Amino acid sequence: MSGGVFMSGMLSSPRTLFGATQSADALAAGGGAQNIIIDTDPGVDDAFALLLAMRSSELKVVAVTAVAGNVPLSLTLPNALRLVEIAGRQDIPVAGGASSPLIRKLVTAAYAHGNNGLAGVEFPPARLQPVKEPASDLICRMVRENARNICIVGIGPLTNIALALRQDPEIGSMVSSIVLMGGSLSGGNVTPAAEFNFYVDPEAASIVFSSGIPIRMVGLDVTRKVQLTARHVQALQAGKGRVSEAAARIAEAVMKMHRGADSERGPNLHDPLAVSSLIRPDILIFEDYQIEIETTGSITAGESVGWKHGPARHSAPMETAGVTEGPNDFLFRANAKVATGVDSEKFFELLISRLTTDGI
Ligand code: RIB
Ligand code: CA
Repeated sequence: MSGGVFMSGMLSSPRTLFGATQSADALAAGGGAQNIIIDTDPGVDDAFALLLAMRSSELKVVAVTAVAGNVPLSLTLPNALRLVEIAGRQDIPVAGGASSPLIRKLVTAAYAHGNNGLAGVEFPPARLQPVKEPASDLICRMVRENARNICIVGIGPLTNIALALRQDPEIGSMVSSIVLMGGSLSGGNVTPAAEFNFYVDPEAASIVFSSGIPIRMVGLDVTRKVQLTARHVQALQAGKGRVSEAAARIAEAVMKMHRGADSERGPNLHDPLAVSSLIRPDILIFEDYQIEIETTGSITAGESVGWKHGPARHSAPMETAGVTEGPNDFLFRANAKVATGVDSEKFFELLISRLTTDGI
């Protein structure tokens, strides 16, 4: 794939670069790093996303909150603590959150992330302890303390964020934005309709997309274009320091897990792509959509349905009697910017350089 070329996802060609470079503008104007809370279910790709964020001066990770998803919370929380410690960032509070979705049974993904969530790579238990504050309390408190100056990065099922919005609806007007890895306008990865994070907790995703908070959705349309390869593993192995070593161990292990030891190509790096868009906004191209989450389908629950323009309409009404004049349209209102184009080369350039630069 040639460098600098935007790869459209499975959608129409990209149109405009999303109102750009909030963090870059902030830095340029001496505005300093962007405050972010990362809500995560580590998770192999979550691990890369966390390490990238903690190694990027454009971002100030003010908290990490763990949620059940790829593996149970009993693993995602200790994995989050380990990764914060590996990055030498014991200054970052880590809170435990929801151990199950809002109303559904937890479905995990050990098949993709290994039984321990980190492709079976064993790191010593962290000395760092989680804070006592539950994730949703911490999110509400920190958002109120940094009103309009905190971005929530959701890279797992959105249960913690939905709980926070339920607990304190007013924070909906105080969160500056949500950048999330989730959803798809071109088919799911768990069912033909649903991407994993929205599949696990469709109700939570629906609450987040109805919150009115500015959302950037980084879905499978673009994350399918950033696949880990043996070349990336070699670059990580050549890096110096604990972060590069840990990333290399996880990368090597997941390559073996996914496609056998001799494979050149591994899993998609969904979550770090979402984080990268905060560091280098030119990596992704976004387009305005109205996104609604299917929550009642017995086959399609978790599907992110997108309208690019009106008329927006739902399924035919269930009333048995009578005829409804025309479809039941409702007002089109874009509620998200959806990533539709990606410069994969720029993404890997950023990811590998940040994880391998000398440091801790
Ligand atoms: O569908 C990919 C998403 O589900 C990623 O966040 C991955 O970590 C899993 O949680
Ligand atoms: Ca994840």
